[in-house]
Amino acid sequence: MKIAVLGGDGIGPEIVAQAVRVLDALRTDGLGIELECGLIGGCAVDATGEPYPDATHRLASQADAVLLGAVGGPQYDALPREQRPERGLLAIRKKLNLFANLRPAMLYPELANASSLKYDVVAGLDIMIVRELTGDIYFGEPRGIEIRHGERVGFNTMIYSEAEIRRIAHVAFQTAAKRQGKLCSVDKMNVLECTQLWRDVVAEVAKEYPQVALSHMLVDNAAMQLVRNPKQFDVMVTGNMFGDILSDEASMLTGSIGMLPSASLDENNKGLYEPIHGSAPDIAGKDIANPLATILSVAMMLRHTFNQEVAAKRIENAVKKVLAASYRTKDIDEAGMKSVGTKAMGDVVLAML
Ligand code: IPM
Ligand code: MG
Repeated sequence: MKIAVLGGDGIGPEIVAQAVRVLDALRTDGLGIELECGLIGGCAVDATGEPYPDATHRLASQADAVLLGAVGGPQYDALPREQRPERGLLAIRKKLNLFANLRPAMLYPELANASSLKYDVVAGLDIMIVRELTGDIYFGEPRGIEIRHGERVGFNTMIYSEAEIRRIAHVAFQTAAKRQGKLCSVDKMNVLECTQLWRDVVAEVAKEYPQVALSHMLVDNAAMQLVRNPKQFDVMVTGNMFGDILSDEASMLTGSIGMLPSASLDENNKGLYEPIHGSAPDIAGKDIANPLATILSVAMMLRHTFNQEVAAKRIENAVKKVLAASYRTKDIDEAGMKSVGTKAMGDVVLAML
């Protein structure tokens, strides 16, 4: 199992270091794990002038999976668009064809008080958002800012081919078939042609999955339903832009963005695994960031890329035990709990493992 490790910026290196300790422990227990580190994001710009250097692309291409921390920081805000750390993330997704982004939003019962919603609304919440990651208005051409009729105009292109829609739909139906068998496809077909095609193609693919109950929802309604009654959802599938927004909303239902992992997969289940939270520059270097989302990303990696379900469960169970034993980093802390920092959280996860 060749894994490229890209810590990135801000808290990225700190949280990835704890996830690497978990991988090291699994190696000691007999899994054939090889790790190699590389640069992405702002640290890569500092070292090479580019957010996704060729050397990193070679490393990531040759690996079976990539473990990523986070990218970005205020010191890079003034850089030209092509050099922004976020560009590194978009480039690795596009170049490795990581079109299927799985973003689970599940509530750990111990953390129910961290949600801003009422306990009854979120207790038992377990949603999987399947976001298309390499198309849509994020990558559509033409795009730009130019002068027309003496004033500046900005424009982007929302575009999906039916092949792009079909392949993400298959991932979503297969994901739903392994869960509660419910899939909600989110679009804006009342206004946007691109998403009318989305709805039509998803409905065609549905014929191959009679065991999955498909529904369609407009994105504005979906945003509303996610806070009104989120437990109505099992799997949601949507395009890149709507998925970006809805996955942030869904993650916050759980109250603990520091707990949520993600996977971005290509057609052969090669994947990039990262916490869904960002680089949190304000708390970087202070040993207070929560490493659990990154550690849980390793569990997703073992499950989706390496088919090591037993090892994946072992990590997830260790995290559950840590929470049950009242260990909390600052972001999820409450009165009466055992407050720990980033490294100490890594220690207790290893102990439970
Ligand atoms: C995400 C992030 C990225 C996105 C940014 C950092 C480019 O918000 O992974 O959701 O918009 O996809
Ligand atoms: Mg986002």
